[in-house]
Amino acid sequence: MDVNELKKKAFTDLIQIKTLADLEQFRIKYLGRKGEITAALRSLKDLPVSKRKKIGIEANRLKNELTKVFEKKENEIQDTKYETQATKIDVTAPGIKITRGHLHPLTQIMRKIEDIFQAMGFRIIEGPDIETEYYNFDALNIPKDHPARDAWSTFWLKTKPDKLLLRPQTSPMQIRFMEKNNPPFRIIVPGRCFRYEATDASHFYNFYQLEGLMVDKHISVANFKAIIEEFLKKIFGGDIKTRIIPSYFPFVEPGFEVDMKYPSGEWLEVMGAGMVHPEVFKAAGYVPGQWQGFAFGIGIDRIAMLKYKINDIRLLYSSDLKFLNQF
Ligand code: FA5
Repeated sequence: MDVNELKKKAFTDLIQIKTLADLEQFRIKYLGRKGEITAALRSLKDLPVSKRKKIGIEANRLKNELTKVFEKKENEIQDTKYETQATKIDVTAPGIKITRGHLHPLTQIMRKIEDIFQAMGFRIIEGPDIETEYYNFDALNIPKDHPARDAWSTFWLKTKPDKLLLRPQTSPMQIRFMEKNNPPFRIIVPGRCFRYEATDASHFYNFYQLEGLMVDKHISVANFKAIIEEFLKKIFGGDIKTRIIPSYFPFVEPGFEVDMKYPSGEWLEVMGAGMVHPEVFKAAGYVPGQWQGFAFGIGIDRIAMLKYKINDIRLLYSSDLKFLNQF
């Protein structure tokens, strides 16, 4: 083996190298595991002992030398690459536009609704997604065997001794808030709700509600109507038809439902409401007969559907960008 020959060959190759790809070929050819230097070092054992030491030293020296020139060359190529890129920048060219994200339609509508109620003096309160049986049922005047439990008796968690469930409505926050605060007050409680029910165009197994509660000495249905009409006018302008009809919820007396008319002529229930039941005031620890109030639970998804003309609630949870980018 002639180390000098190998050196000459390697340096002749090195002069030709222009790109990082060429350099990599060079590395493989000489310094790689199957490269010529490695082969030379391996073949030392076949040489007579007298030559082995001298050639071994030379071959190792060449290996170190080539490793150094390889690194130097690599830096040179990198530098010229940046230089040529730098000289190519056209500062007059228009910039690349960054696509801007936006809020989910449900977040947008929620914020609009919160703004409207805040302007009417309502405070925003938040509550837990996981509720106890007591706050979701007992304190809301829904005793153990009451048939009204069925609609809300849904995702129970495997907990003992307290029975916990994913809240199917935001109404439990009425009790939680009244336990700690005295009237007069007006609050809204936006939040996620969960129900174990078959999905269709207007029902999903999770959705958003916004609870409202206003309590004072002389609150009547007229106050409820005025607040709700103002809210609907602010969200939809004048061009939507609504109706308030009797309905039943154990925690109000009397109870209502507010419906809105789709352009197709169909009515869609958007909220349940009513005057707070005396049993609810009692459960919260208020002296019976001292206070009056109204409560309501708005289906936020349904308001979004009417506002943005969405005909299927499931689209809101589809994460489909073709749908979401329209808002
Ligand atoms: C309630 O949940 C009562 N807590 C509302 C209430 C509050 C009444 C305060 C009286 C006083 P309801 O089950 O009707 O009521 O639901 C209220 C609204 O939530 C409905 O009008 C609807 O807009 C929305 N909603 C209910 N279930 C679903 C669902 N599966 N998917 C989407 N929206 C729903």
